[in-house]
Amino acid sequence: MTGQTRADGSLRHLLTLEGLPRTALERLLDRAQEFVCAPGARPPSSRLLAGVTVANLFTEPSTRTRVSFELAAKRLGADVVNLEVQLSSRAKGESMLDTIFTLEALHVDVFVIRDAEAGVPGLVAANVAPHVSVLSAGEGSVSHPTQGLLDALTIRQRKGRIEGLTVAIVGDIRHSRVARSAYHALTTLGVAQLRIVAPPALLPGDDEFHGCVRHADIDAGLRGADVVMMLRIQRERIQDEAQLDSADYFRAFGLTTARLRRAKPDAIVMHPQPMNRGVEIASDVADGPQSAIRDQVRNGVAVRMAVLATVARGRSGADA
Ligand code: NCD
Repeated sequence: MTGQTRADGSLRHLLTLEGLPRTALERLLDRAQEFVCAPGARPPSSRLLAGVTVANLFTEPSTRTRVSFELAAKRLGADVVNLEVQLSSRAKGESMLDTIFTLEALHVDVFVIRDAEAGVPGLVAANVAPHVSVLSAGEGSVSHPTQGLLDALTIRQRKGRIEGLTVAIVGDIRHSRVARSAYHALTTLGVAQLRIVAPPALLPGDDEFHGCVRHADIDAGLRGADVVMMLRIQRERIQDEAQLDSADYFRAFGLTTARLRRAKPDAIVMHPQPMNRGVEIASDVADGPQSAIRDQVRNGVAVRMAVLATVARGRSGADA
């Protein structure tokens, strides 16, 4: 048990997708689909979270996740505060929990937390008042649950299903929270085959990613895939990262148009971003007709709206 649910079974926190039942994942994806907004259309807005205060606490860099959590909360009518952790009293030695208790006293109801250290979102979740929710926006290399959901939603939209598909995740899987959350989401949702494709140094240990097919050769790993998910090398989590030469890596593992031909002709290409063009992916693939990368970004707001609406619905006294 992850301790994410309330006594009545409703979702209170979202720290990981591991252990969430298929029905819970599907409900979140269905809810997110209702919030999806076509490019150029006026985004949905509601008062579902009126009177709720959401705080974004990010101690690692973020563009998409932070902005989309903020937009998601605002489009549901919440009040939003973004704490610049480097400029906060954390920089004067205040502990994470003291910062949290201060914000709680200021009536923050939902904490959105990204931290390089494993365990931080769970620690906060274990210490906040019962009406408060914690949503992980990326925990070390452990998990990134809303990314896993938006990846699943993107696949479902583009392919019409997840069940029965062959998905290849390619790149620095060892250090990737995105890969771990994709693994939990896609295996629960019935993917036929999940491949993890990486040079040996970037593959995870055998005690993880059970049931996945491992490939150290990208051409074999891509063969017949329906979905190709590319990952950035997480240099900030690798000690001797200078050993990893970008040009060598691109030659051995970069996704080019020629390589993509090994996958199914209608395969889609995904990337959580930030992308390093010319390292893990060629520009023409990233911007090409098979790319679903912009859809992933769009779906990020919809998924975060669905998660916020779901945790808020279970709050005692909430009318959402
Ligand atoms: C990812 C992350 O932060 O884990 N980015 C994201 O949230 N879309 C991927 C990465 O940093 O490589």
